[in-house]
Amino acid sequence: MIVCHCQNITNHDIDAAINWMRAADATALITPGKVYRALGKSADCGGCMPLFLSTMRKNDNMEVPMTLRGLRAGPAEEFHDERRQESN
Ligand code: FES
Repeated sequence: MIVCHCQNITNHDIDAAINWMRAADATALITPGKVYRALGKSADCGGCMPLFLSTMRKNDNMEVPMTLRGLRAGPAEEFHDERRQESN
């Protein structure tokens, strides 16, 4: 199925790019921009983004690597703790 009509990118192209990136780097954060770049293309109108993203999410290799999970919660809690200590 064609996902991006401007660049003629199919769902199979997106899956292949994601699988290749995950195989090359287990901790890579895979974004639509990186998928475009891996395919040697760049987004044009952006009208495909909702379908592009939903196609990406269906790929099993799109999970956030275990080593990167919880990073957002950690520094934010530290930040709040620091502010609490400053106000005391
Ligand atoms: S349809 Fe994908 S950039 Fe236009």
